Amino acid sequence: MGLEAVGAGNWAEASRILAEREPDLIFLDFKLPDRTGLDVLRELRQRDSDTVVILMTAYSTIESAVEAIKLGAYDYVSKPFQMEELMLTVDKALETTRLRREVREMRQQMRDQFGMDSIIGRHPSMQRLFEMVAQVAKSSATTVFLRGETGTGKDLIARVVHYNSDRAAKPFVNITCTALSETLLESELFGHERGAFTDAKTQKKGLFELADGGTVFLDEIGDMPPALQAKLLRFLEERRFRRVGGVREINVDVRVISATNRDIEKAIQGGKFREDLFYRLNVVTIELPPLRARGEDIRLLAQHFVNLYAREFKRPAVRIDEAALRKLSEYSWPGNVRELRNVMERAVLLCRNECITPEDLVVGRSLSQPTSLSAIDFGSIDLPPEGFDVEKLQDLELHLLKQAMDRVKNNQTQAAKLLNLSRDRLRYRLQKHGML
Ligand SMILES: Nc1ncnc2c1ncn2[C@@H]1O[C@H](COP(=O)(O)OP(=O)(O)OP(=O)(O)O)[C@@H](O)[C@H]1O
Ligand SMILES: [Mg+2]
Repeated sequence: MGLEAVGAGNWAEASRILAEREPDLIFLDFKLPDRTGLDVLRELRQRDSDTVVILMTAYSTIESAVEAIKLGAYDYVSKPFQMEELMLTVDKALETTRLRREVREMRQQMRDQFGMDSIIGRHPSMQRLFEMVAQVAKSSATTVFLRGETGTGKDLIARVVHYNSDRAAKPFVNITCTALSETLLESELFGHERGAFTDAKTQKKGLFELADGGTVFLDEIGDMPPALQAKLLRFLEERRFRRVGGVREINVDVRVISATNRDIEKAIQGGKFREDLFYRLNVVTIELPPLRARGEDIRLLAQHFVNLYAREFKRPAVRIDEAALRKLSEYSWPGNVRELRNVMERAVLLCRNECITPEDLVVGRSLSQPTSLSAIDFGSIDLPPEGFDVEKLQDLELHLLKQAMDRVKNNQTQAAKLLNLSRDRLRYRLQKHGML
């Protein structure tokens, strides 16, 4: 098959070879002069080796072969060998080795990418946050609750916690609770058995199962449907669950990190989020401060992103002039770090020489500037071919009301301004939609 083969007559000799090089594949006999095949598998496992092992067995040892598979052997071939079959097994095994190495390399890249130093910030509030993140990373079973406005770095922190914990070699899986219907979300989290519901054509493992040993990140937890909240609570209490339509209890060891950019206390008061679940999730809370409250960090981050994009776009070093920095500090950053990153990306693309000036910065309204509401050009909206239910315009109104109230943290005067309403008319509309 064009492969290089190195033989070893016993484990001592094999050990010496393995210390010097990492083979793509190991053929292992059951009875070695100084070990059994099972001993060797145990030792390889302890060394955290990714190398694929194929066991060579006679019919008399098939039972141990099953045991060997449990210990992580890839497959076994029985003696005497069928050459065709053997070559097929080798091909598949080599592919598995390649994939395992790729996964290992990608995990290493992630670890480099999400080191503690990937979080930029010197503001005192960020210093406290660094300490918390380091502590939480160390205690790898602690449930963590992240809160902060959109774009403040919740996703980033969740990954940093994972990749700096001793779970780093295991999966980090991420699910956004808003994105799916209740049934789909449940099967996504807990998996399902074949035939559990109409579309369940095959058995499927859920994210909790796939993340065993690692971390599950539940994003936008505030939007989780109530029925699922009860199931999640039960899982957090017992660390066990059943697949949808399943009878067997499955145990897994995962750390749960959840996040929300909403006012969860309000959701609890409004009966939309279970208080008992909140206490389970909220063992340690990490609160991410909004960018506008981080003072000098705005400049620090701006320069960080400029360096990043200059490198990416293969441009020489770019600096930001003083007037531009002032403009950045005066802006309110409703989209926080994400918005700053996008503004700086664009600035690096736009700026003509090696210096970013205020003209290169396209930001929304500054805090001090008077507001003028954006107008939608209705002529640009097309009636969809299948038509449109005009009664749904009420829902659009509700959607805009909610967003306005969220953005200004329920300050009615400010929300009224955003929506070009008097405060009374805003209250009338909120009442109409049951929001008061
Ligand atoms: N302190 C920071 N240092 C460096 N980059 C940051 C920092 N905070 C956030 N970022 C970057 O800003 C972007 C937005 O952050 P992230 O996606 O973590 O926000 P989020 O809080 O999850 O927002 P949302 O609530 O909208 O999901 C990402 O590219 C992230 O890497
Ligand atoms: Mg996020």
